[in-house]
Amino acid sequence: MRKKVTIIGAGNVGASLAQLAAQAGIWDVLLYDVVEGMPQGKALDIAEACLLWGSAASVKGTNDLKDTAGSSLIVITAGLARKPGMSRDDLLMANAKIVGGIAKELPAYSPEAILIVVTNPVDVMTQLSWKVSGLPHQKVIGMGGVLDSARLRSFIAWELGVKPSDVEAMVLGGHGDQMVPVESLMSVRGIPLKELLPAQKIQAIVQRTRGGGAEIVSLLKTGSAYYAPSASIFEMVKAIMLDEKRPLPCAVYLNGDYGWEGVYAGVPAVLGEKGVEKIIHVPMHAAELDAFNHSVNAVKELLHKLG
Ligand code: NAI
Ligand code: 2OP
Repeated sequence: MRKKVTIIGAGNVGASLAQLAAQAGIWDVLLYDVVEGMPQGKALDIAEACLLWGSAASVKGTNDLKDTAGSSLIVITAGLARKPGMSRDDLLMANAKIVGGIAKELPAYSPEAILIVVTNPVDVMTQLSWKVSGLPHQKVIGMGGVLDSARLRSFIAWELGVKPSDVEAMVLGGHGDQMVPVESLMSVRGIPLKELLPAQKIQAIVQRTRGGGAEIVSLLKTGSAYYAPSASIFEMVKAIMLDEKRPLPCAVYLNGDYGWEGVYAGVPAVLGEKGVEKIIHVPMHAAELDAFNHSVNAVKELLHKLG
């Protein structure tokens, strides 16, 4: 039987991800949303495109959570997105109600599923989903670091005029204003970035990365980014569904890792068929570690706010 990837929330991020997953043609795709007819309409549109993409995926839409039964992987994108002037944290209470309500129900229909949480503020929404779902923490993972790192790598590549995939860099910590683009991990084909760019330029790139989401919100005015986010989620979907064992920066449960206990935050984690298969401990300079701790503290503060 073909495996099923379910996407909760058929808005900008959810529908773009559905398109990528359907194009791959490897799994069936289900889109769920509360708006009547909308997930069905988008699914039908994508299903009609499958023939042209040479994909044999079945793509369906629904307003009934029961239809999610038997999913191998579920991505939660349901909730409010940022508008100009809003931070990701401003979405906390409204999105907690939406995400908490859904994550609690999902395991009854798909007890074996792995959850990828995307809704913001993502580190807190991932922790909430883990808690209410009752799933093992290795099977509940947040997406933030893959996107932030893609932005960082792009900005470095554009500055140097080199191919973005030849640039290595990772953003760790929470997916918020205190995220940590780790300077000692930035390189081009193994050449440390500090050998290629002056410190001032690197600082400007770090700042642009931290404001990368807001930069797009201020241009769009009606919502937030979705093309790079959906491509980032798709990296994680493939790593898990194809058991690729990819070390990707994701929001995972820290269980004594990096000196933290019982909190979700972004660190490099090997993703495979079991979900988080290993957490990688990267050495950081003292200042980087301080920034990381500051960022995880910001996630903890939001958790306290949520109670
Ligand atoms: P959107 O507004 O286009 O779509 C959200 C969808 O959620 C809407 O279709 C809405 O009807 C649906 N929804 C609301 N309540 C629901 C419920 N109870 N059940 C099912 N569906 C429900 O927003 P967009 O751009 O797709 O963003 C979605 C979320 O993802 C936002 O919170 C955004 O901040 C977050 N995001 C996170 C990123 C990350 O890196 N972690 C990157 C991009 C977006
Ligand atoms: C972003 O960084 C909205 O979190 C989302 O674009």
